[in-house]
Amino acid sequence: MERSTRGAMAARSWLLLLLGLAGVLHVHGQCAPDSTGFVSIDCGQPEQAGRYVDAATKLPYVPDGAYTDAGANHNISPEYIKPTSSKRYLNVRSFPGVARSCYTLPSTVARGSKYLLRATFMYGNYDGLSRLPVFDLHLGVNFWRTMNITTADKPQLAEIIAVVPDESVQVCLVDTGSGTPFISALDLRPVRDTLYPQANATQALVLVDRTNLGLSGAAIVRYPEDPYDRVWIPWSEIDSNEWTEISTPEKVKELADPRFNAPSAVMQTAITPRNGSRSASSRTIELSWDAAPNHAYPDPGVIGIVYFAELEAVAGAAARQFEMAINGKLWSKAPFMPQHLVCDAFFNSEAHRGFGGHYNITLNATANSTLLPTINAAEFFSVVSTANVATESKDVAAMAAIKAKYEVKKNWAGDPCAPKTLVWEGLNCSYAISMPPRITRLNMSFGGLSGAMPSHFTNLKAIKYLDLSYNNFTGSIPNALSELPFLVVLDLTGNQLNGSIPSGLMKRMQDGSLTLRYGKNPNLCSNSASCEHTEKKSKSMLAVYIVVPILATVVIGALALLLLIMRKKQGSKKGSVKPENEASGVHSQSRNGDTHSLLQLDNRRFTYKDLQVMTNNFKTVLGRGGFGSVYDGFLADGTQVAVKLRSESSSQGVREFLTEAQTLTKIHHKNLVSMVGYCKDGEHMALVYEHMSEGNLEDKLRGKIVIVDL
Ligand SMILES: *[C@@H]1O[C@H](CO)[C@@H](O)[C@H](O)[C@H]1NC(C)=O
Ligand SMILES: *[C@@H]1O[C@H](CO)[C@@H](O)[C@H](O)[C@H]1NC(C)=O
Ligand SMILES: *[C@@H]1O[C@H](CO)[C@@H](O)[C@H](O)[C@H]1NC(C)=O
Ligand SMILES: *[C@@H]1O[C@H](CO)[C@@H](O)[C@H](O)[C@H]1NC(C)=O
Ligand SMILES: *[C@@H]1O[C@H](CO)[C@@H](O)[C@H](O)[C@H]1NC(C)=O
Ligand SMILES: *[C@@H]1O[C@H](CO)[C@@H](O)[C@H](O)[C@H]1NC(C)=O
Ligand SMILES: *[C@@H]1O[C@H](CO)[C@@H](O)[C@H](O)[C@H]1NC(C)=O
Ligand SMILES: *[C@@H]1O[C@H](CO)[C@@H](O)[C@H](O)[C@H]1NC(C)=O
Ligand SMILES: *[C@@H]1O[C@H](CO)[C@@H](O)[C@H](O)[C@H]1NC(C)=O
Ligand SMILES: *[C@@H]1O[C@H](CO)[C@@H](O)[C@H](O)[C@H]1NC(C)=O
Repeated sequence: MERSTRGAMAARSWLLLLLGLAGVLHVHGQCAPDSTGFVSIDCGQPEQAGRYVDAATKLPYVPDGAYTDAGANHNISPEYIKPTSSKRYLNVRSFPGVARSCYTLPSTVARGSKYLLRATFMYGNYDGLSRLPVFDLHLGVNFWRTMNITTADKPQLAEIIAVVPDESVQVCLVDTGSGTPFISALDLRPVRDTLYPQANATQALVLVDRTNLGLSGAAIVRYPEDPYDRVWIPWSEIDSNEWTEISTPEKVKELADPRFNAPSAVMQTAITPRNGSRSASSRTIELSWDAAPNHAYPDPGVIGIVYFAELEAVAGAAARQFEMAINGKLWSKAPFMPQHLVCDAFFNSEAHRGFGGHYNITLNATANSTLLPTINAAEFFSVVSTANVATESKDVAAMAAIKAKYEVKKNWAGDPCAPKTLVWEGLNCSYAISMPPRITRLNMSFGGLSGAMPSHFTNLKAIKYLDLSYNNFTGSIPNALSELPFLVVLDLTGNQLNGSIPSGLMKRMQDGSLTLRYGKNPNLCSNSASCEHTEKKSKSMLAVYIVVPILATVVIGALALLLLIMRKKQGSKKGSVKPENEASGVHSQSRNGDTHSLLQLDNRRFTYKDLQVMTNNFKTVLGRGGFGSVYDGFLADGTQVAVKLRSESSSQGVREFLTEAQTLTKIHHKNLVSMVGYCKDGEHMALVYEHMSEGNLEDKLRGKIVIVDL
């Protein structure tokens, strides 16, 4: 007894969109839709071409310039242009040489709503290379599917039904090293939230096939018959020896069940086994699909939705009754009897796994059934996780503003932090389970940035390291930067900043919670001559912190320091008479090239080469004063040091240098920053201090802080 006659529906791992082929489409009515919440984008359409109405659907299509800032427009090769070609397939936007390129679409209904997103791809040898690419699509920070472009002359389609949690959603094309991603068109369609319950906040449905079964159905059904503009493609691999059509001119009602519905135009046709066929003798319908595995989902979970309606008047003793099995397993205990002219659906709520993406259904007439099974339509999906969350929206907004202001190219597209493999260049992020990623480090060093420092940086509330060194920032340093609670390093070295260091930042530096680097900003007030009012206080702040606890034991030390400061101020004032005191003695000795007075210093002497090693060739500037720059360094034993190197152009003389060295070394206290050593190597002179930073300094700070201009 032969039972398993198989009406195989060949799997369509990709779909050919026959849309736009003239004469194929039903077009009902001429009025363009208005408040549908639809977004229809003709990718690669020049901006000046403007909006136009699609001949088939009467939906307005717009150029894509407003939705992406990446890529370039191309026309397809003339040999692929047919008179019937839909306008949106005549051009593409392609994205050479970038890892990820994105379109940002508005969530037109509300946050958390459900949408159908559809991208179409018609290669048409637009690049003249005759090379069909393979690339990935992402929906925001989640993998959607791999797009394997297998034909140059027909549009291929990708569709996903997903909940969009935010006010916008990104569709990203990801270069996987197998050709340049491109796109022809992009549609966003709101879907009633109750539809497709398998699509939820953490799972989306990727379309494999959506079929309208029926022989006469040569037409594609979509908008406006389908209010969600789903594209129902007629089953083309029809074997008319095996199947016959049942159809009705009467409208098929939507089921009360709000979870599924297919448009009446789709439901008005169905297939049943042809009398005398193998399927008829076995009284079964068998259909199967395969979802292609991909690198992200080697065993895709699959979901099927099968639509039924009784189209014939079944009267008297006649009955149509069948059972249904998925992948060989009986689906429902009770046999199923389609209702007359009412749409109904069978579906699986949980994705089937473990069959390598294979999915088959068997409709088997029961013994009591006088009629053979029928089926009107079917949808088949694979599921993908949408559990990856996007970066904290405030961080995203700040980065978007920074990107917009500076036209930073690099790989800045899509989400800044996710997925981890596509983090923006110059960023580091923190990732915590079920929390949005946060931006913790931003390096825009040598970024060619100019103008006033924008406030956007102060909106990156989780940032720890902000490196804006070697740009052309002008104006003053925004004090708001001091309000970044986690900021530990702020590098402003090598800009054109002016004014003084704002009090908030000073305070953060003094309490040790922040390391500020601001060297090579010639107009910054901390830097000598340009800043008169601060000169009285200290000429170069922060080169080294010296802590003076209010303790009787260090009063002497403090006095000595004060003395030093006073003397320095006098000494550095232009045109003032330098006091003839012990300093001159040192001066004369050093002028004679005799350095033995330095031997009195109870510290180590370093060569210039030692300093180079210590500071990694003077790589990191901690600060800068009239004397010269202060560099970050390490001794061989790991001790962090600050190396203050006298610059050639220093207004401070050799004599002052030596005086300071000598005076400072006389002050010894455990709570004072100690001098580690000095360098007097030919023309090169430097002082080397223990460098207290961050927690280290904070721990030690107890009393009054005196910032000494060294
Ligand atoms: C793309 O499709 C071609 C032809 O079907 C196939 O040979 C190739 O392996 C596919 N590539 C990927 C990455 O799936
Ligand atoms: C979405 O559906 C999947 C599969 O049924 C389920 O595991 C997951 O918990 C659902 N997510 C939400 C947020 O309801
Ligand atoms: C099927 O064909 C047989 C003879 O070939 C005929 O007797 C029967 O009525 C047909 N059934 C239907 C439903 O057309
Ligand atoms: C249906 O799927 C099951 C499970 O994968 C398999 O064992 C069975 O052979 C399939 N039947 C057909 C007709 O493909
Ligand atoms: C079809 O139904 C018959 C009885 O109605 C049953 O014996 C048979 O096992 C069923 N076949 C399948 C594949 O479910
Ligand atoms: C089939 O018909 C018999 C007799 O009419 C009835 O007793 C039985 O319940 C029916 N079976 C089903 C599955 O409907
Ligand atoms: C931080 O980002 C840079 C690139 O910007 C990268 O080279 C580095 O590995 C990242 N660090 C961490 C800890 O992820
Ligand atoms: C910051 O970026 C600059 C320029 O891209 C680079 O030279 C430097 O190494 C980066 N710094 C860090 C700590 O990654
Ligand atoms: C700053 O601007 C000047 C001229 O405006 C330019 O020569 C220089 O290269 C710029 N520096 C940086 C670091 O961008
Ligand atoms: C700082 O620079 C800005 C623009 O570069 C200028 O308008 C402002 O007057 C300068 N301020 C000081 C104190 O020099």
